[in-house]
Amino acid sequence: MPHQQSMLDPDGYLRPPPLDVDGYMGSIARCRLRFPQLTILTGVEFGQPHVFGRQAAQLVDLSVFDRVNGSLHTLAVGDDRYEPNTLFRMWPTEEVMWAYLEEIPRMVAGSEEFEVFCHIDYAVRAWPSAAVGPFDPRRFEEGFRGAMRALAQAGRVLEMNTRRLWPWIPQWWFEEGGQAISFGSDAHVPKRLRATSRRRWR
Ligand SMILES: [Fe+2]
Repeated sequence: MPHQQSMLDPDGYLRPPPLDVDGYMGSIARCRLRFPQLTILTGVEFGQPHVFGRQAAQLVDLSVFDRVNGSLHTLAVGDDRYEPNTLFRMWPTEEVMWAYLEEIPRMVAGSEEFEVFCHIDYAVRAWPSAAVGPFDPRRFEEGFRGAMRALAQAGRVLEMNTRRLWPWIPQWWFEEGGQAISFGSDAHVPKRLRATSRRRWR
């Protein structure tokens, strides 16, 4: 996207400006005034909180938000970190999924900052089905269940991303002791709030 292009530094790293917390809070306050019948919580999505806790604390006071969602978008490769879509081009397909799922318990153990864990199927978004066939969660069931167990035992909440409402996620979550689910649209712009996916898993 053009506005993201302008945030790229010469090395190709995205360097976004700090979150405008005052502007965000002002916007939420206006929404609450305009829609008093709605309960509107403030929140942030904090990626890789077990790795970037110290850096984030220098940028923003997370305690001002009603909710902190934690997410895992990248895995470490040497001194760098890569998204699954890149990793699927670098590593064997199954290895990416297992590495992703095995990192989740480490994220839980390594950070108290987040209450909700977002999109546990994040790596599936980049699954190279053209090359290896459709994604079948049963091949990674133990990995998903292990991640869910770690989250449940730590009292965290699992987000159901409404872009992909897989039925096996709430089923396995419940069976592994999960107590609560949060729904998130993952809409990055307001007009996508009501968008739904037609993809189905059988
Ligand atoms: Fe995310």
